[in-house]
Amino acid sequence: MAQLLPVDDFDLIIFGGSGDLALRKLLPALWHRHCDGQFPVSSRIISIGRSEIDRSGYLELLEKTLTENIDLSGRQELWQAFVDRISYLEVDALDSGTWSPLAEMLAGRDDVIRAVYLATPPSLFGPVARGFREAGLCVPEMRIVLEKPVGRDFESAQVINDEVGGCFAENQIFRIDHYLGKETVQNLLALRFGNAILEPLWRREVIDHVQITMAEDLGVGNRIEFYNDIGALRDMVQNHMLQLVCLVAMEPPSSLDDDAVRDEKIKVLRALKPIVGEKVVTHTVRAQYLGGAVKGRVVPSYAEELGSESQAETFVAMKLEVDNWRWSGVPFFIRTGKRLPAKHSEIVIQFKPVPHPIFDSEYSATQPNRLSIKLQPDEGVKLSIMSKEPGPGQLRLRPVSLNLSFEETFGIRYPDAYERLVIEVLRGNPALFMRRDEVEAAWRWTDGILEGWEKYNQQLESYVAGTWGPTGASVLLDRTGRSWF
Ligand code: BG6
Repeated sequence: MAQLLPVDDFDLIIFGGSGDLALRKLLPALWHRHCDGQFPVSSRIISIGRSEIDRSGYLELLEKTLTENIDLSGRQELWQAFVDRISYLEVDALDSGTWSPLAEMLAGRDDVIRAVYLATPPSLFGPVARGFREAGLCVPEMRIVLEKPVGRDFESAQVINDEVGGCFAENQIFRIDHYLGKETVQNLLALRFGNAILEPLWRREVIDHVQITMAEDLGVGNRIEFYNDIGALRDMVQNHMLQLVCLVAMEPPSSLDDDAVRDEKIKVLRALKPIVGEKVVTHTVRAQYLGGAVKGRVVPSYAEELGSESQAETFVAMKLEVDNWRWSGVPFFIRTGKRLPAKHSEIVIQFKPVPHPIFDSEYSATQPNRLSIKLQPDEGVKLSIMSKEPGPGQLRLRPVSLNLSFEETFGIRYPDAYERLVIEVLRGNPALFMRRDEVEAAWRWTDGILEGWEKYNQQLESYVAGTWGPTGASVLLDRTGRSWF
């Protein structure tokens, strides 16, 4: 049974409170934590938005969005207690001169935790941080949460980090990558460092290659304008995918302290071989979806959704190399895309074949072992091993799976990543958040690819919605004699 410890009294101020992220992710996460009794009665959620609605209009909007996925029947009292915590203020985030309603609301609460969540475009991060400082609204237990992306390249990330860092100490700044709050991603640490049997196998002598897939069946939805400006490399690779690469590739940290894990992750980011110059042509693939059918539903092309032609990629695949002793010569293949056949995120560790085949009949060829860590859906870990098929006659081998399904084993609802992350913010524990140097190192590496794409006019391939991506993605592995799982 999970141990749910209450957090100390807090005021959580959400800028972008009427946006998609707040309504679809943050507030549902807060609702679940409220239901589990983790919040003191006096703690408050103050949503700040630009929508011209009053509090009751906001609560209506919230209830409508939340009940798309959550059943509130029989929980009216609990719901009422939840909404009693919530206020809605319409203030201009860029003009702290308009913040007096917020200041009034916060007055007299300087001794409780004050967390400012910026569910806004990154251009507001610096101004809001400054606004709090200048309006004298910072308190001893202050935290500021920055949603990804922090900037759109190394330079802009530096500017934001300088601006926010000029107002808050690094341990008050929580840069979110929600993948770090996902249960199975956390489990990767447990798997790697809570089991002695894996560590001796986690190296170049035994592992052939690593594959990481983050596939989504959905398109871009109502974020299309924002997305069109950034594309899949900035949206998924610079953050979520590189974080997974780090967790797979890093050395064992000396402890789980805030900085111990992050110190090891940054070493991986620094060891990533740059994909620069003409290398982008052989090591990366970018593509955009055409119309097609996803899960039996006909969907338009990206350009039709956008209403114009665009060069933004909705799919990226690439070959990465981690240039260090442990991983030298072991390629990491990663791919992510929208409008693929299913929502599916998985890390696959492909081991090398046995060094000397003794089962050599056509029925007994061995296949290399494979460890699959499934992040979503159906979280679990699967190890494929060769086994003898039961029965008399010739010795026949077949791959079978040792299969651990977390849901079957633990039989509980998996909390959304934001539930864990919001609690960690309130507790003031930055271990699951990205440190400044991590974000900047990830941008530095990604910038090389962006520059290469531009300089070498990297082709934007296309793929039919509902398929596993463009031909180039298969060719990327074919060339090395491998294929995607
Ligand atoms: C977000 C991206 O960070 O992650 C989205 O901006 C993407 O484009 C989402 O859809 C995927 O997250 P999850 O948790 O649904 O896999």
